[in-house]
Amino acid sequence: MAGPVLQVENIDVFYGASQILFKLSLDVEQGQTLALLGRNGAGKSTTFKSIIGLAAPRSGSVKIKGQDVRGRAAYDIARAGIGFVPEDRQVFPEHSVEDNLLIAIKKGPEGQDYWNIARIYEVFPLLEGMRGRMAGRLSGGEQQMLTIARTLMGNPEVLLLDEPSEGLAPVIVAQIGALIRRLAEMGVTLILAEQNMHFCLKVATHAAVIDKGQIVYRDTIAGLKANESIKQRYLSV
Ligand SMILES: Nc1ncnc2c1ncn2[C@@H]1O[C@H](COP(=O)(O)OP(=O)(O)OP(=O)(O)O)[C@@H](O)[C@H]1O
Ligand SMILES: [Mg+2]
Repeated sequence: MAGPVLQVENIDVFYGASQILFKLSLDVEQGQTLALLGRNGAGKSTTFKSIIGLAAPRSGSVKIKGQDVRGRAAYDIARAGIGFVPEDRQVFPEHSVEDNLLIAIKKGPEGQDYWNIARIYEVFPLLEGMRGRMAGRLSGGEQQMLTIARTLMGNPEVLLLDEPSEGLAPVIVAQIGALIRRLAEMGVTLILAEQNMHFCLKVATHAAVIDKGQIVYRDTIAGLKANESIKQRYLSV
């Protein structure tokens, strides 16, 4: 058996003098969709920032397929196979949808070239229909899809999505959920940082709950679904 695609072990992360993450560990295996769930301010975005090198952990390790990348520059970690979709989506507003995609094309760390413009349009037919449109004109949900698609163009080993359902209408959230499930069926390994537990119960395979910078629960998504006390204590259902 191959080990985890991404394995974070015992990271301590600080902003200035204040410690934000405490001995945090998580891992995800090929094809899994891990939901990192927690309330406002629990440390979800900081976990992602520390994985991608924007808030380097002071101790512990961040391994991509066994290789420790902790302390490396963010561009170097991206090249090692971490694809990151930030909360605020960040499309290039003055450029077309297609240019937004083409700018990001890159082989994966092991030369993977599965994702290209044709494959993206196959999975995201909506984007093909608006390929010439300025990205800044897209709706929030369309921009979320474009950012996910653009990140896939870099053929990452694992895709980190920070609050993919945030601020979107329920019908659009359902579309994003269907898209995430489709990607998972295609073998994409994902971690979703979310406050929205109901969304995660529908799309994830595994769950980790974070509270005050610590992982307080780890199980399959079915295990979380059945655990009323964890849901009430940490996820305000
Ligand atoms: N740049 C920063 N400097 C200092 N403290 C920060 C900084 N960014 C976040 N924090 C603090 O770190 C803690 C974790 O924040 P983080 O953004 O990781 O939470 P989150 O789980 O992503 O929350 P949300 O659901 O609101 O996105 C919070 O207490 C927050 O106030
Ligand atoms: Mg956040």
